[in-house]
Amino acid sequence: MKYNKLSNGLKMPVLGLGTFLIEDGSSVYDTVLNALKIGYRHIDTAYMYRNEKGIGDAIRDSKIPREEIFITTKLSTQAMGNKELLEQSFQESLDKLQTNYVDLLIIHWPSHNEKINAITWEFLEEQYKNKKALAIGVSNFQRHHLEDLFKTAKIKPMINQVELHPGLSQVYLQKYLEKENIAITSYGPLMKGMVFEAPYIETLTEIAAKYNASVAQIIIAWGLKRNIFMIPKSVNEKRLLENFNAKDIKLENKDVERINQLNKGKRVYTDPDNNPIAPY
Ligand SMILES: NC(=O)c1ccc[n+]([C@@H]2O[C@H](COP(=O)([O-])OP(=O)(O)OC[C@H]3O[C@@H](n4cnc5c(N)ncnc54)[C@H](OP(=O)(O)O)[C@@H]3O)[C@@H](O)[C@H]2O)c1
Repeated sequence: MKYNKLSNGLKMPVLGLGTFLIEDGSSVYDTVLNALKIGYRHIDTAYMYRNEKGIGDAIRDSKIPREEIFITTKLSTQAMGNKELLEQSFQESLDKLQTNYVDLLIIHWPSHNEKINAITWEFLEEQYKNKKALAIGVSNFQRHHLEDLFKTAKIKPMINQVELHPGLSQVYLQKYLEKENIAITSYGPLMKGMVFEAPYIETLTEIAAKYNASVAQIIIAWGLKRNIFMIPKSVNEKRLLENFNAKDIKLENKDVERINQLNKGKRVYTDPDNNPIAPY
């Protein structure tokens, strides 16, 4: 597995397993165990996914040393801005994951109120200092959310996890994050299946044929070539392996550019500025 370093020097596997909508219990347990057998060493979850227990069980039963697995979780959005609730819910995540630290802890969605984000970020800084989180970051933060956060943050976020795929290439946001030394993770790389339809599929199929790869693999390889951490989700053993093998495909810059050009500014997830679940 290839690793990229975050701004604090922590090594993070460039490819991981997304677990959104994988149910707790045998579904997530079997998926994570299969993924670990294939070679995945990076699991992305969240308090909100309600599957941390099954993930913890699978990691425990895999017998792979804890320090070899990179775990990302995201704070409860309902606890935002309230240190007591943040403490309680984060401890719940740790207990379910059966670990006393996570590798990466992130704010799941920005609040529309910058004060709430600032308090929540201070909580993250505390977890970083007491080593319950080896790295800290944010998710779904637009440039303006980050600029507000910088007014009070003592430690800069090390990562921003955002919706990013051929329909939403985030080239502009990535340039800004690079300047701020903040890494970027893509979520929703397959656009909830829309990459397999017009207007994306024609170009992607052409490129896939050139590398003797699948369309999903080409998208993962596109992200990796752009230095973006990729966390595709699959519960299917064959697709888990297919996605994992995408790390060995080296896309030429001209093909990266062709996929960048497919950008339509198209979101398949919620717009962070109009997110109804984020607190005000
Ligand atoms: N921070 C946030 O707010 C946020 C939001 C959304 C997601 N995420 C994270 O990002 C991860 C990835 O995003 P995602 O789950 O939305 O979507 P995704 O990875 O783009 O796509 C998952 C869907 O594509 C299918 N699939 C997977 N590999 C495939 C392949 N090789 N060929 C064809 N179909 C394939 C899966 O079905 P099967 O399972 O049946 O294979 C599933 O239906 C999430 O799991 C989560 O960890 C974060």
